[in-house]
Amino acid sequence: MDTLALAKALPKAELHIHIEGSLEPELIFALAQRNGVSLAYASVDALREAYAFTDLQSFLDIYYAGASVLLKEDDFFDMAWAYFEKAKADNVVHAELFFDPQTHTERGVDMGVVIGGLKRACEKAEQDLGISSALILCFLRHLSEDEAFATLEAAMPYRDAFIGVGLDSSEVGHPPSKFSRVFARCRELGLHIVAHAGEEGPPAYIWEALDDLKVERIDHGVRCLEDDKLVMQLARTRLPLTVCPLSNLKLCVVDDMKDHPLKRLLHAGLCATVNSDDPAYFGGYMNANFEACVNALGLNRAEVVQLVRNSFEASFVEEGRRAALMASVDAMLASS
Ligand code: ADE
Ligand code: ZN
Repeated sequence: MDTLALAKALPKAELHIHIEGSLEPELIFALAQRNGVSLAYASVDALREAYAFTDLQSFLDIYYAGASVLLKEDDFFDMAWAYFEKAKADNVVHAELFFDPQTHTERGVDMGVVIGGLKRACEKAEQDLGISSALILCFLRHLSEDEAFATLEAAMPYRDAFIGVGLDSSEVGHPPSKFSRVFARCRELGLHIVAHAGEEGPPAYIWEALDDLKVERIDHGVRCLEDDKLVMQLARTRLPLTVCPLSNLKLCVVDDMKDHPLKRLLHAGLCATVNSDDPAYFGGYMNANFEACVNALGLNRAEVVQLVRNSFEASFVEEGRRAALMASVDAMLASS
């Protein structure tokens, strides 16, 4: 098996996927029609043509508009189920899904509707596809910390349905320290803690995520390479980075996939993983991300295997399943 075929065939975990970012244009139009929502675009093709982003904000504007078609529990179920079918095709066996409740509750959608639909899709994925999964509630960092507290409060009746909290949306100007108090409360509640940092923002934001929020993983984090001391700390602690190569290309974090820092991160000893971020907007799901990296960076077999092992090491999966998933990697390597 060549390296790309191996990358595609290996079982892997996806740890950085915004479920609203898996909403394909066809499903956006189908849900708009089902719910009587009008869209600013005349057709699926016209919407797709608008996916020419210059930075994170230019993407977020379209991403939040796309999410406006989600109103009913079945809409959230259908969106997540469509993702799980794509994940299955890419041999993703464990997925930790971000969701942005404030995008929906701001429009009058109840928290229970959002979580209910997503949870039902997670249960069906386990039963029908053998994919284990978990939900991570993200706070929108362009909103206030008080609004994050209100969101946490609204989610408390569904505390058992999600395993952690994250921080996403417009990074620059909204440092992690803005949310220190609400993340402290989340830690008291026993939630896992992650945050986007160092995507567009500086290394100082990664330090804040570590020191103020006490994150267990950094989402993106590619700008850590600008700070040697930070790289050394991330390597020493094996604190994972959930890297999203196609996202970085589409949002102009890198100009060319050949310049993507994934290989440099790996060789610095970091626990880097490959993820799709918002696959419906950025040109592909998990295996498309591996394909772009194998082709542009010339990843070898050992590097691919390391990335896949890192995905299980970095996941919040229960220890017995982590060991079983690691063993399934070994089994495939022994027979390939
Ligand atoms: N929300 C969805 N995708 C995101 C990204 N790549 N960065 C920040 N917020 C996001
Ligand atoms: Zn993201």
